[in-house]
Amino acid sequence: MSSVKFDGHRIDVLFSEDQIAERLKGLAAEIAAWAPKRLLVVPVLKGSFIFAADLLRAMHHAGLSPEVDFMILSSYRAAMKSSGKVEVLRDIDSEIQGRDVLLVDDILESGRTLAYAKDLLAARGAGTVRSAVLLYKPGHLAASIKADHCAFECPDLFVVGYGMDMGHQFRELPFVGHVVKEG
Ligand code: IMP
Ligand code: MG
Repeated sequence: MSSVKFDGHRIDVLFSEDQIAERLKGLAAEIAAWAPKRLLVVPVLKGSFIFAADLLRAMHHAGLSPEVDFMILSSYRAAMKSSGKVEVLRDIDSEIQGRDVLLVDDILESGRTLAYAKDLLAARGAGTVRSAVLLYKPGHLAASIKADHCAFECPDLFVVGYGMDMGHQFRELPFVGHVVKEG
């Protein structure tokens, strides 16, 4: 396994830049095979921004021409674990009545964030609401949702890079990695 070193941290590469690029072609082909109608892609920010940007370009190469709008959700995972409350910090502006929607998120873990977003858009009259996630971490599902399109199953480790952060750090890394504290 390759790894990189930054001030006091070692980051082991879990999914490389090349692996991700190759997998996204397959994911885009799956989404194209769905043949969505008037597709709106909704990246759930912030963690999904690089994944969404690359997936959208792969979708273009797969023959799709979606519109894109953004949502920022915040979930109080640690502080309010029992309620699993999700708050909309930024909502989409787009009209979604009758349209197919693809939610894009970085990680599906408890599923609360995606389940909340999916229910919200469905309640507004969207057609079919599907989800695409970069990573699925098995064993933590609290909401009854599964990702329709998932790039990789992820080991139960805290991961960073490719848009995902640890205290606002490491989003710029072109790969998905696991931070190892070096003593
Ligand atoms: P959940 O599915 O509602 O539990 O939300 C999963 C969200 O938690 C993801 O979208 C990430 O924002 C965050 N998250 C979970 N695990 C990790 C991790 O290993 N690194 C960075 N963020 C994570
Ligand atoms: Mg997230």
